[in-house]
Amino acid sequence: MKKNLKKVLALLMCTTVVLTTAMGCGGSSDDGAASDAGDTATEEAGEADDAGDAAADAAETAGVDIKDAKVGISIYQFSDNFMTLYRTELVRYMVDELGFTEGNITVQDGKNDQAEQTNQINNFITSGVDVMILNLVQSSSAPQVTDMCNDAGIPVVYINRQPDETESDRWVSEGIKATYIGADARQSGTYQGEEILETENKGDINGDGKVSYIMVQGDPENIDAQYRTEYSIKALEDAGMETEELLLQRGDWDQVKGQQITQDALTQFGEQIEVVFCNNDAMALGALQAIQAAGRTIGEDIYLVGVDALTDAVQNIVDGKFTGTVFNDYFGQAQGAADLAVKFLNGEEVEPINMVDYIKVTTENANEILEKIK
Ligand code: BGC
Repeated sequence: MKKNLKKVLALLMCTTVVLTTAMGCGGSSDDGAASDAGDTATEEAGEADDAGDAAADAAETAGVDIKDAKVGISIYQFSDNFMTLYRTELVRYMVDELGFTEGNITVQDGKNDQAEQTNQINNFITSGVDVMILNLVQSSSAPQVTDMCNDAGIPVVYINRQPDETESDRWVSEGIKATYIGADARQSGTYQGEEILETENKGDINGDGKVSYIMVQGDPENIDAQYRTEYSIKALEDAGMETEELLLQRGDWDQVKGQQITQDALTQFGEQIEVVFCNNDAMALGALQAIQAAGRTIGEDIYLVGVDALTDAVQNIVDGKFTGTVFNDYFGQAQGAADLAVKFLNGEEVEPINMVDYIKVTTENANEILEKIK
C-alpha cells in the first residue's frame, strides 16, 4: 500500500477529502445530488493531496512537535474487515506522511465492548495523550466519553460511527474540542438502490411489478446501518418501483452472519428473492456463498449489492458475481481524521462534522477501483 501513494492520491482526485459541514452534505441524497457527488468532488480535487502537508506544516509553524505528540486510538473491533483497512491507513499516514512517531501512537481493540473501550479511554487520559481518535463501540456513549476527554483537556476526533446531532451541536455551543469525520450513509444507500435500478429489469426479475428483497443489516444502533437500509429502498421507490421486504435481519457487519441469514432466507423464500441488499461487503460476501450454494446466479436470477469496496467484493463485480458495491473511502476518512487531530494539536478551529464522499462501484469502473485499492 505504501508504494501505492500515487494511486491513492489519484483516487482522491476523484473522491477528494470533502471536509464540509453536515448541512453542506446532508441534503445530497434527498435532493438527488448524490449522483453528482463525483463531479463535485473532481472539481475540488486538487486540494486533497496537499491537505496532509498543509496540516503538518501548520503544526510545525505553531511550534507543536508532531514527533512528540502522543495519540490514543481505539477501534470498536479489530476483527472488522473495513476498520482494519481504515486503521492500517490511519497509522501509515500519521507516521509516513505527517511525521508522528510510531511508538507514540497506541491503537487499542475495543473488542465490541463499550465498558472495555471506556477503560481504554480512561487509560489514555491517565497516560496523558495529547489527542484521541475514537471509533466508538456505541455511538450513544459519545456524550459521556466527550465529557471525560473534555474534563481532561484532551481533544477527540470521532470516526466511522457518528454521534447524535444533539451531541455534535453541543460541541459547538459549549466550545468542546470534539469533531466527527465519516461518510454520509444516505449517499451509500442511495447508490445501492441506483445500482439495482441500473439493471435491465430494475430489480424486478420475475416481472410481477415489484422488487422483492431481503435486507441484511449491520448493527442497527449504527447510523450507517439505519441510513443504508432506508435509502437503498427509498431510491427504488423514488424511481417509481414497488418494493416488497421479505426479510430484514441484523447481521452485525459480519460475513458469517451474512451467510447464515441469506442461507435461511433462500430456504424460506426461494425464487421469490430478487435482490439481496447488504449494509456492507463483508455480509455480502457471506450472502454470495449462500447464493452460490443454493444454485442461484447473480445477474440472472438474483442481484446482490454491498458497501465498502473490499477487494474481494470488487473482484467479484469484475467476475460478474456481485451486482455492485459502494466505495467507502477509508483513505480519505483516515487521512482526514489524522489531519483533524493535527489541527487540534495546533490549536486550530475545526468543523464539528466532516464528510467524505462515497463512490458507486459497478462493472463500469470496477477494474479501475480495483487497481486503486489493491
Ligand atoms: C462499514 C462497515 C463496518 C462499520 C463499522 C461501516 O461504515 O461499511 O463495513 O463494519 O462501518 O462501524
